[in-house]
Amino acid sequence: MVEITTPTFQNTSVLISPPIIPEQFQLEETLNLGVLASGSGSNFEAIAQSIAAGKLNARIQVIIYNKPKAKAAERAKNLGIPAVLLDHRHYKSREALDFAIVKTLQEYQADWVIMAGWMRIVTSTLLDAFRDRVINIHPSLLPSFPGIKAVEQALDAGVKVTGCTVHLACLEVDSGPILMQAVVPILADDTAETLHSRIQIQEHHIFPPAIALAAKRLQNTDPLV
Ligand code: GAR
Repeated sequence: MVEITTPTFQNTSVLISPPIIPEQFQLEETLNLGVLASGSGSNFEAIAQSIAAGKLNARIQVIIYNKPKAKAAERAKNLGIPAVLLDHRHYKSREALDFAIVKTLQEYQADWVIMAGWMRIVTSTLLDAFRDRVINIHPSLLPSFPGIKAVEQALDAGVKVTGCTVHLACLEVDSGPILMQAVVPILADDTAETLHSRIQIQEHHIFPPAIALAAKRLQNTDPLV
């Protein structure tokens, strides 16, 4: 007789690919990060915690935020990290905002750009200044559901799993070479809020090692290639 069991996904470990093997993500050089955030900044804080715990060899030089009330700024204050407001409404074009971002990142000597919930479309002004060093996180298994409301898009589509993706950014929104993904099952009673909060747990988990992976790839010491 076949035994039918009902799995409870909350307690099952999710699939993360590539797997996070801490020794493989050790970096010899310290990365100088500039973080861009538009909202709560929980990913920013997760990266800061990973650095503080000695898991990611990096420093957050500055966080740039574009909404005056972004909670990310409050988190930066508590963490003692410089925060700079560049309100997109004060710039005539996307390029003008990106030019100000590049200037600020250079002032603070950041070498990497970490888009941690940055809800602006970026231009070649930023991407060319930090070639292969702009990293984005998105709450879906890209290339599915790019753009805004990714969690709602997954629920509306009726897919059974979704997740999050860390990737190198390119001109097209939420696309570019994928660094790491985590799969999150969708439960029958999920709302956008419950699902997003489970996705965020995985975002906080994969973002720091995915940053290390990007650095390793650039140095051609990617453990997985
Ligand atoms: C995250 O879920 C991130 O994946 C998403 O914004 C949220 C920011 O949360 N980014 C995008 O949708 C980019 N297209 P946080 O402010 O708590 O880190």
